[in-house]
Amino acid sequence: MGVQINPSILSADFARLAEDTAKVANADWLHVDVMDNHFVPNLTLGLPVVEAILKAAGTPVDAHLMIEDPDRWAPAYAEAGAGSVTFHVEAAAAPVRLARNIRAAGSRASMALKPATPIEPYEDLLPELDMILIMTVEPGFGGQKFLDIMLPKIRRTRELIGKHDLDVWLQVDGGVSAETIERCAEAGADVFVAGSAVYDGRDPGAAVDKLRALADQ
Ligand code: DX5
Ligand code: ZN
Repeated sequence: MGVQINPSILSADFARLAEDTAKVANADWLHVDVMDNHFVPNLTLGLPVVEAILKAAGTPVDAHLMIEDPDRWAPAYAEAGAGSVTFHVEAAAAPVRLARNIRAAGSRASMALKPATPIEPYEDLLPELDMILIMTVEPGFGGQKFLDIMLPKIRRTRELIGKHDLDVWLQVDGGVSAETIERCAEAGADVFVAGSAVYDGRDPGAAVDKLRALADQ
């Protein structure tokens, strides 16, 4: 598998989601940020909008749940058809059970770590997961500055995945752009979320191609 580029529709026009998702038909996944105004200080969208996107878009959906109580809510996103469902370990009461429930509902199970959350305590959970998301900003908003201090954690996570010989994807999210994506790739990330870097310009599809070319070296 080569690198994957996942545009974050948080930076799209919410009144024109069908058009804006069609502009990135060359992307691997659509990254959909669900925020509940409790786990993060921002409110975006929930299951009904994700279901509408699933119907409208031809690209698989990567649901990033920045919500409290993912144990209760995350499996419904898998049942609705999101191909990948990411919960935050800081919010999960029983992450192993939750990952198993997501997989049982037919989706890839993914676990996210906020910037201050280390990977080491979760080494033993890696076989239960299909992807780890290392946040490279504090979750909650698009357009923030990439945190370079996360690069060692990306490197360390790649080492742990390799140590156990697992096929776990390693995603980065926050401040990923033409300026920062090569550093992330070099550290071992293979799935790249980009919101403002894709949607703030004139041609989102071309931005996806450019990011892919930079990461795939
Ligand atoms: C932030 C979200 C990100 C956000 C990224 O909490 O999880 O997916 O949309 O936006 P950029 O790429 O602009 O940092
Ligand atoms: Zn996200």
